[in-house]
Amino acid sequence: MSNQKFYKIVTYGCQMNVHESEKIAGALTELGYISCEDMEQADIIVFNTCCIRENAENHAFGNIGMLKKLKAANRDLIIAVGGCLTQQAGKAENLHEKFPYVDIIFGTHNLHRLKDYILLKQNRKKAVIEIEDDEGYVFEGENPVRTSYPNAWVNITYGCNNFCSYCIVPFVRGRERSRRSENIIAEVKGLLDAGYKEITLLGQNVNSYGNGSDDLTFPQLLERIANLDGKFRLRFMTSHPKDFSENLAKVISENEKICHCVHLPVQSGSDAVLKAMNRKYTAGDYLEKISCLKKYVPDCAVTTDLIVGFPGETEEDFEATLNLVKLVNYSSAFTFVYSKREGTVAAKMPGQIPEEVSKQRIMRIVELVNSLTREHTKDYVGKTVEILCEGYDDKKGMYLGRDCYGRMGYFKSETNMIGEFVNIKVNKANGVSLIGERI
Ligand code: 5AD
Ligand code: SF4
Repeated sequence: MSNQKFYKIVTYGCQMNVHESEKIAGALTELGYISCEDMEQADIIVFNTCCIRENAENHAFGNIGMLKKLKAANRDLIIAVGGCLTQQAGKAENLHEKFPYVDIIFGTHNLHRLKDYILLKQNRKKAVIEIEDDEGYVFEGENPVRTSYPNAWVNITYGCNNFCSYCIVPFVRGRERSRRSENIIAEVKGLLDAGYKEITLLGQNVNSYGNGSDDLTFPQLLERIANLDGKFRLRFMTSHPKDFSENLAKVISENEKICHCVHLPVQSGSDAVLKAMNRKYTAGDYLEKISCLKKYVPDCAVTTDLIVGFPGETEEDFEATLNLVKLVNYSSAFTFVYSKREGTVAAKMPGQIPEEVSKQRIMRIVELVNSLTREHTKDYVGKTVEILCEGYDDKKGMYLGRDCYGRMGYFKSETNMIGEFVNIKVNKANGVSLIGERI
């Protein structure tokens, strides 16, 4: 029998969490564990949780509950739960009470100490519960095991200062802090040297990178990275509209490595709702930003996040959102039903919207967004696009990847094309994706 030990990481939520799971995988690798597919085979299972909406939270709770049997069958199994859910006030205790067989509970601010917690747990019976309130300093020197070649995620900021009234993120990820630009640039250089072809800079609000420090501004940082040698694509997310500047639009237009694709969450098209959400812009301000972006980058694809059913949202407010969606003509959008998060300002607002109403609204907005996406996709037919191949779809028997606007394209190839830039002629638009042939 080999002594090899295996890990399994279960990730919930956003790209930020996906990348954080890569860092967790790095820590587990340093401890000698290797990745496995099945929970049954694992010696350690780590849940990296999300609490942005109630369903993400319920999902994690449900799955942790199902591990009781596994733990009973294998006493040596280590179960660790970390991330946004555990960082919420009182949640770690709650989790420990409900699932006493969970061995390690850690928060977002002490993820880099997971290795110590595992070593501690290996030598004691008692659960290790460590949630730090203080976000502290920006931790460097992680060694992520990257799982998305040829794409690589790079954090530039952590936390958020915006306190949108519906959002739990500032409570569980702390105040905004930026990494030093020299560390970011060194990481990106290393990734490009290792053959990565697409870099996505990550932060809750990348536009305010470096705020209040002597470091570069976000447009300057983008420019420095875009000037690095080699053929690669540069993306970033997420931008807050209030901080989206003309200078940034200019930098996107002047650097061909920066993708013409910007994710600019609007949340609502109603000024009253935007004010209640504490978004700090009106629908008019937002549309001006879009005009400015399109002035410099006319072909820029714009994507967004939308929330329906925010407390007090009237039919007129909702229709204002539908109108704005049509006006901007988004290439795609993430749509969410408002989810009440304890501790946020919105949770105490009057006028919570009945579920039935929210359900109707989400259906209407999804239909609108889908019809816009389909129209955008249709425009591609007959054109040639450059795809960065990122995977192979077994079911379709085709390679797949995205163009610089973020549209997914499929094509056939006899040879492995993952990590290559491939020109395809689009023959067919298939809902949200493109089917083409290599030329
Ligand atoms: N309810 C619904 N959607 C939310 N988001 C953030 N908080 C909530 C909430 N309480 C959405 C926003 C944000 C995206 C990441 O998640 O649209 O941009
Ligand atoms: Fe949440 Fe607003 Fe910060 Fe985004 S900008 S993470 S929605 S508080």
